Amino acid sequence: MALFLPCAAGVEPLLAEECTHLLGAQAEVQLARGGVMVGGDAPSAMRLNLHSRLAQRVLWPVAKGPYTHENELYTLARTVAWGDWITPRQTLRIDTTAQRSPLQSLNYATLRVKDAVCDVVREATGERPSIDTHWPDLALVLHLSPTEATLYADTSGEALFKRGWRDAQAGKGEAPLKETLAAAMLAAAGWQGRAGDGPLFDPCCGAGTIAIEAAQIACGIAPGQQRRFAFEKLLPFRGHLTRWQQLKAEALAQQRPAAVPIFAGDVSFRMTDFATRNAVRAGVQGAIEFKTADVLQRPPPCERGVLMVNPPYGERIAPKGARGSTPPETGHRESREGFDGGGGSAEFFSRLAAHWKRHYAGWTAWVLSPDMKLPQALRLKESRRVPLWNGAIECRLFRFDLVAGSARQRPATDGQSARPPADA
Ligand SMILES: C[S@@+](CC[C@H](N)C(=O)[O-])C[C@H]1O[C@@H](n2cnc3c(N)ncnc32)[C@H](O)[C@@H]1O
Repeated sequence: MALFLPCAAGVEPLLAEECTHLLGAQAEVQLARGGVMVGGDAPSAMRLNLHSRLAQRVLWPVAKGPYTHENELYTLARTVAWGDWITPRQTLRIDTTAQRSPLQSLNYATLRVKDAVCDVVREATGERPSIDTHWPDLALVLHLSPTEATLYADTSGEALFKRGWRDAQAGKGEAPLKETLAAAMLAAAGWQGRAGDGPLFDPCCGAGTIAIEAAQIACGIAPGQQRRFAFEKLLPFRGHLTRWQQLKAEALAQQRPAAVPIFAGDVSFRMTDFATRNAVRAGVQGAIEFKTADVLQRPPPCERGVLMVNPPYGERIAPKGARGSTPPETGHRESREGFDGGGGSAEFFSRLAAHWKRHYAGWTAWVLSPDMKLPQALRLKESRRVPLWNGAIECRLFRFDLVAGSARQRPATDGQSARPPADA
């Protein structure tokens, strides 16, 4: 049985590549729907938790078998020596996911597995663990395929996109990307923070997620360096905690100054200030140059580089800086209008393209958008389009090779290759 690392749809090949990089070419890595299966032991699970930028969690398999009825799930879950995982004083949670399961009720399936765990512990100790849906000591994930059930222990705890640098008190900003999606954008672009990858610039940075993720990559900061993981409290991992301390110390020793500059900005001072404070908490304030500026007017911060941007769109945030919108410093104007249905969006993107063609020739722009017609709105021909999901919203990450004057006519590929074309 293999570890399972779920990820956002579309990210599977990038995650497979990341796992091979983290565990070595000898590791057995297999693509699955919605994630990647990886052969590995407890130290591998700890390493993946600490270093994966793309996985949502790392799940440890505890039981697997065929099923047609909820009672078979009870029997399957009873095969595990749960006393090795949980004491009666600890708490439990079970989540169930399913793909074309024949069962009538997933709630009942969850209940049967919970009964099995509690019965096994009670028979061994006379007491049963209790349920805590918020902060359980042991979180189990039951995955049901049409014919097979797999029960996993969650070794991550909080989802891995929570790197530990966002301040819960300060809020999240407006429509921030998940850190895992920002990392997927950078991975899809093949940007790894090496000198040859070029400077990175997010001119609509919001809470700073893309720039902070990029800066951590460039500085060799492990994404999990600042957070805790569920396995630190799980009984089967107790014997590996010395190895865990070593892994963390090794990761710390790999930190370095960034080899490339990273620039970020937003039209709103409130957002650049917020992003700067996020960067401080993420330990990368020295690697990012923030500036409050309108993307429609901002000159390039250096001669050549990579623009990586998740621009304002649709109902979520109205673009500012377009004619007729609020001046930059007066705050946000919410729009209920669609991406190309007014609210300044169409004009914003046409002005953005004109500005980029005039001032950013030689740059590569990667733009994440839910609008499949973004290239038409920009009047630019994309050279790549990578399917990615922003939560429930299907998006494309478009690559535009910016050339002075007119759009460059190059065929787009709708694919997942982690590397840009050789002529990038
Ligand atoms: C979708 S949000 C970006 C979210 C960001 N990627 C994050 O993870 O937090 C778009 C951002 O563009 C900014 N924005 C809107 N109009 C702008 C303009 N003309 N120039 C620069 N930034 C702008 C908004 O203030 C907002 O923070």
